[in-house]
Amino acid sequence: MKLIIGITGSTGVIYGIRMLEVLKKLNIETHLVMSEWGEKCITMETEHAPDYVKSLATSVSDEKNMAASVSSGTHRINGMIVAPCSMKTLSAIANGYDDTLVARAAGVTIKESRKLILMVRETPLSAIHLENMLKLSRLNVIILPPVTEFYTKPKTIEDIVNHGVGKCLDQFDIDHDLYPRWGSF
Ligand SMILES: Cc1cc2nc3c(=O)[nH]c(=O)nc-3n(C[C@H](O)[C@H](O)[C@H](O)COP(=O)(O)O)c2cc1C
Repeated sequence: MKLIIGITGSTGVIYGIRMLEVLKKLNIETHLVMSEWGEKCITMETEHAPDYVKSLATSVSDEKNMAASVSSGTHRINGMIVAPCSMKTLSAIANGYDDTLVARAAGVTIKESRKLILMVRETPLSAIHLENMLKLSRLNVIILPPVTEFYTKPKTIEDIVNHGVGKCLDQFDIDHDLYPRWGSF
């Protein structure tokens, strides 16, 4: 299993960080691409340095490097998760405007019919956001916003984040115990 992980400039970068921590523990190969604002949000919102986040991935590419391996469909990969995904990157992906490596890698993932998960984050959502999501959903892109559930009675922010990360991993059929499943409690 090899996954591309994109982190863009939306609140909730902790989801992408936790995703990388979990995938590293599971020995799953990850290729990280962070946008400029993704990096800035890590500094603004978390106690982590961008270098720590980069150290979690198997390999890292600069978002401006269109010659990176993940820019090509010939690079064999199982799929891609963008966590979190800003409305700007959502729009770029929905419109095929591949001006960053996150958008390019996502476009390649779609054209190669591989699994793409967008952990989109904004509220409220405008008709522009919703139309972009619908367009991508019709292309089998999975729109998976980090929406909190309460039936498991989360006690910490970590519980909430783990649930969102676990829901993404479920899409790739990756075994984990990040949240208790309905019927198990
Ligand atoms: C602290 C912070 C939080 C942000 N949160 C969001 C958000 O939740 N959703 C969103 O679409 N944009 C958000 N933005 C705005 C994006 O960072 C901005 O649109 C940026 O151009 C996105 O570029 P990128 O997708 O290449 O990272 C936020 C910006 C900052 C500084």
